Amino acid sequence: MRNDVAAVQALFQKNVVPSYARFDIVLSHGSGSHVFDVAGKRYLDFGGGIAVTALGHSHPAVTAALVEQSRRLVHVSNLYYHEPQGRLAEALVNLIGPGKVFFCNSGAEANEGLFKLARKFGHDEGRFEIITTLNSFHGRTLAGIAATGQDKVKKGFEPMMPGFRHVPYNDLEAMRNAISPATAAVMIEGIQGEGGVRPVAPEYLLGLRRLCDEKKLLLFMDGVQDGHFRTGRFQSFQRILEPGPQASQPAGSGGMPAAGNAEPGGSANPQTRMSAPQFLPDGISMAKSLGGGFPIGAFWARAPYADLLGAGTHATTFGGTPLGCAVALQILDVIHKENLADNARKVGELLYQGLQRLSHQYPAIIQNVRGLGLIVGFELAPHIPNMPGDVNKTQAVRFVNLLHAAGLLTIPAGATVVRLLPALNLRAAEAEEGLKIIGLVVAKLAG
Ligand SMILES: Cc1ncc(COP(=O)(O)O)c(C=O)c1O
Repeated sequence: MRNDVAAVQALFQKNVVPSYARFDIVLSHGSGSHVFDVAGKRYLDFGGGIAVTALGHSHPAVTAALVEQSRRLVHVSNLYYHEPQGRLAEALVNLIGPGKVFFCNSGAEANEGLFKLARKFGHDEGRFEIITTLNSFHGRTLAGIAATGQDKVKKGFEPMMPGFRHVPYNDLEAMRNAISPATAAVMIEGIQGEGGVRPVAPEYLLGLRRLCDEKKLLLFMDGVQDGHFRTGRFQSFQRILEPGPQASQPAGSGGMPAAGNAEPGGSANPQTRMSAPQFLPDGISMAKSLGGGFPIGAFWARAPYADLLGAGTHATTFGGTPLGCAVALQILDVIHKENLADNARKVGELLYQGLQRLSHQYPAIIQNVRGLGLIVGFELAPHIPNMPGDVNKTQAVRFVNLLHAAGLLTIPAGATVVRLLPALNLRAAEAEEGLKIIGLVVAKLAG
């Protein structure tokens, strides 16, 4: 097959549903945190396939797991038992807490499962409603777009599936006021990813837990993007509730949203710190980095609720295949053996501090930096006079295009935020290399 840019793009234009706004890059192969296009240009990958390629590209342990397991058993259906699914479920339960796991194929599907769990939970009392937050993102299925707190994903697909409402993020009073006799559950992201890398305040998390207990609601966390050790802990809430100030989100810097009832800088509050270790949500959705590029999703449900989904109530053909589970187990093993949670924390801090320096040096270009570990976002000024590119495109897309030209892949979030979601094994030298590229682009824009 011809492998040049125009030929591949022509194949897409003729045959692929045009639902994605793609960049003009045709990728061919990758290794570690680098990918190469069909012309041989090398890119440093800070996008990580949108928080997916946990071990980077072509990791030998992933290849070995794929080869080894595919020689033994690829798929059998969930009519039968097999060891890899049982072992992966056990590993996830050990990382979170007492409960059980359901396997599926994507983040949207993991959330769908939790939505069904909430409906089953509230069914006999006529409760079905799920409250989520504004600017959230929960996937592109019909329930996913109904749950997502952004109008742009709903447009053209109305009427929305009933039973979802949105309230401002980090505003406990707004959540309390929104609860109705029909409410069964609440879902939030620990760090809103698509919404612009916005971490939740610890007091808000703990307040939500108390509120859900008081009103007999399930509390769900969508850990699809910010989970799987990206923040330095398995789930972002575990990192957010750690004692002591969060280095990457000093109070007042904009790193920690100060909305509603959440107290900015409240991480020093001893009461918060005492109750934090007991915090557990009732359900957590996972996908993305779980399979490192092999499609697998899952949700964990807390012990008393996991059994609500009895035989025949929920299923998916490809959920938790031997192959997918073997890959996910291998990824967990590498993360553990190579201490990649610590790496995410350290290298993430390096990125965060480097971006902070740039934002202090060029405040007219970078207005804000947010994030924890290897989920970092920087907010561009809404209008940058020297910004080249198509004026119909957002500042974020135009900036990302400049980074592409300079050899760095990153991900836009909304109109003005650029996200970094690299592999968990990103090296410090690679982080420095990426910062240098961002710095050169910013300096040029500043004129
Ligand atoms: C927080 C969150 N939830 C759900 C999803 C949907 O996941 P998927 O694209 O695998 O369906 C995403 C995807 O970006 C996400 O970021």
